[in-house]
Amino acid sequence: MRTILVVNPKGGCGKTTIATNLSGYYASKGVSVSLVDLDQQRSSYQWALSRPVGAPAITPYSEEIDSYDTQRVIYDCPAQIHIGLTTDLINKSDIIIMPINPSIIDHRAAFKFIFDIRGMIRADVCKQIQIGLVANRANKNFNSFHELDNFSKLMKVPIVTSLRSSQNYVTAANEGLSLFDMPHNRVATDLEQWRALQYWAEGKLLKKK
Ligand SMILES: Nc1ncnc2c1ncn2[C@@H]1O[C@H](COP(=O)(O)OP(=O)(O)O)[C@@H](O)[C@H]1O
Ligand SMILES: [Mg+2]
Repeated sequence: MRTILVVNPKGGCGKTTIATNLSGYYASKGVSVSLVDLDQQRSSYQWALSRPVGAPAITPYSEEIDSYDTQRVIYDCPAQIHIGLTTDLINKSDIIIMPINPSIIDHRAAFKFIFDIRGMIRADVCKQIQIGLVANRANKNFNSFHELDNFSKLMKVPIVTSLRSSQNYVTAANEGLSLFDMPHNRVATDLEQWRALQYWAEGKLLKKK
């Protein structure tokens, strides 16, 4: 079992979008996956319940349980995450994915949060927990993307991929689907942007003992 935390204290940056689509990716590959929704809004829990019959299975949880019997566990965190809850979750995570919108306001908030996260990681697991940024609703030609790039270098946290703003996320979510359940020709551009995240996540997870 490997644990992936999708977290950022900022609301609306794409946590649920990434947690649900990453779950969809694993499910589409036949990898068993639990999606744990820690947000009281229950967006990803309801999304998982609304998946059509025949869509690859994702096991939804509306709260944390003691143990999961799936190969991957993905936590979709709320915006205002409780500090005690975060410490516990951070230390049991194998990787941390932080969606971030390229915007100076969001960079500042993330800057503080990454410091906080690093302060929470126990010494014995310190080197093993990798943090990766996902630039969400990003356009590489905008100045804000270059600022995010500088931010990533300063913090020594990689931008694993950048995802464009795409109606495909909204359409898929409305139907309880992920991009990986949609006709490939319709979502090819978006799937291409997901590839680097898949490689990064699995590369880090498979290296872990
Ligand atoms: N790359 C994207 N393209 C288009 N819409 C997006 C994208 N990422 C997120 N959204 C939309 O933005 C809104 C907020 O995203 P969400 O994943 O719920 O954020 P969070 O969980 O961090 O609050 C949702 O309506 C979602 O469908
Ligand atoms: Mg959410």
